[in-house]
Amino acid sequence: MAKRAFITGITGQDGSYLAELLLLKGYEVHGLIRRASTFNTSRIDHLYVDPHEAEVKLFLHYGDMSDGARMMGLLSQIQPDEVYNLAAQSHVRVSFDEPIHTGNTTGIGSARLLEAVRTIGLGTRFYQASSSEMFGGTPPPQNEETPFYPRSPYGAAKVYSYWMTRNYREAYGMYAVNGILFNHESPRRGATFVTRKITRAVAAILAGKQQDLFLGNLDAVRDWGYAAEYVEGMWRMLQADSSDDYVLATGRAFSVRDFLEFAFDHAGLDWRRHVHFDERYLRPTEVDALVGDASKAKELLDWSASVTSPELAGIMVDADVAALASSDGKWIDKVSLNTWVSTPAWDIQQ
Ligand code: NAP
Ligand code: GDD
Repeated sequence: MAKRAFITGITGQDGSYLAELLLLKGYEVHGLIRRASTFNTSRIDHLYVDPHEAEVKLFLHYGDMSDGARMMGLLSQIQPDEVYNLAAQSHVRVSFDEPIHTGNTTGIGSARLLEAVRTIGLGTRFYQASSSEMFGGTPPPQNEETPFYPRSPYGAAKVYSYWMTRNYREAYGMYAVNGILFNHESPRRGATFVTRKITRAVAAILAGKQQDLFLGNLDAVRDWGYAAEYVEGMWRMLQADSSDDYVLATGRAFSVRDFLEFAFDHAGLDWRRHVHFDERYLRPTEVDALVGDASKAKELLDWSASVTSPELAGIMVDADVAALASSDGKWIDKVSLNTWVSTPAWDIQQ
């Protein structure tokens, strides 16, 4: 029997890579998807299979992290072996604008899902997408023993989810793990996170469609890895003999200014001629430096990151340059007017 997985956040960056990985491993994959007035499946459209032509292994279900009853119903219907809780309002800056919504989805949403898993009582293994943002103000290097000091409503919500996951493990003996992941990026990264904002701008500047790029704090230090590698670590966490918490990171520190250098240099451009400061992109409280120590994951899961931040910048610039070129210069038009051409007819489970 194929294993069955349920992924919340399947339409996001990590959800799309994880769905790919699990399908490759022979899983039957179920994903939670929000009903939206526009298509929101672009990151997983390449996984669509026409049910008339081949066996379907990927199923989508409408739902929302704010709706606990729906989770209970879905889990009893799907009866998954593994649940990956990736759904979140995941933008740190936005969490200052929407602290209550962020708490409700990124925080209490996890509790709703944990409670559904516990109630269904099938021994389902649970993965929680915890974050290095939980370390916030505690200086690097950060590992599984480092005290949390969240500096945003998002970070605070993730700390709540982290402790709820541990509590369900300790109180009910659930197989529940926290993957404490440091920043990981890819060509599928949301366009308003700083790496993708930079690489999209590089492509647009090269194509003569943009001259200026406005950014906030260039001094922030992050440990940027490649998302496609990190989902393998998530899966390994759920295959271990017992549940535990693990950091995934590259262990290398770079500033936003360094990433600008990598991305612009890769395209033969000088970032100083294009980048300007805009205080709108500052945060009320900033996280100055996140640099992870992933030696526990190396030792117990045999997981380590191989793609470095400079290589990642190159991968992302190349992908954005190719995406812009393939849209025949109709970047906006293509997205807004022609999506029906490329969006498959998902039969989303109602
Ligand atoms: P992402 O691209 O922003 O994806 C977030 C996903 O959550 C999307 O599928 C989104 O659906 C879904 N979602 C948001 N609110 C929801 C709601 N109320 N109900 C149901 N679904 C909802 O994030 P990501 O980069 O893939 O990250 C995956 C997870 O890892 C997140 O929990 C994030 O906080 C965490 N994390 C990420 C990083 C990182 O560097 N990427 C590091 C540490 C932890 P739509 O597509 O409809 O918006
Ligand atoms: N987004 C953004 N936009 N960030 C900027 C900008 C800008 O114009 N200018 C400077 N920055 C700085 C931010 O202040 C921050 O210090 C850094 O770039 C990284 O910002 P993001 O790319 O938005 O990521 P993040 O580190 O805040 O959060 C990401 O990583 C977390 C893990 O540490 C998100 O993916 C979170 O969901 C994740 O948990």
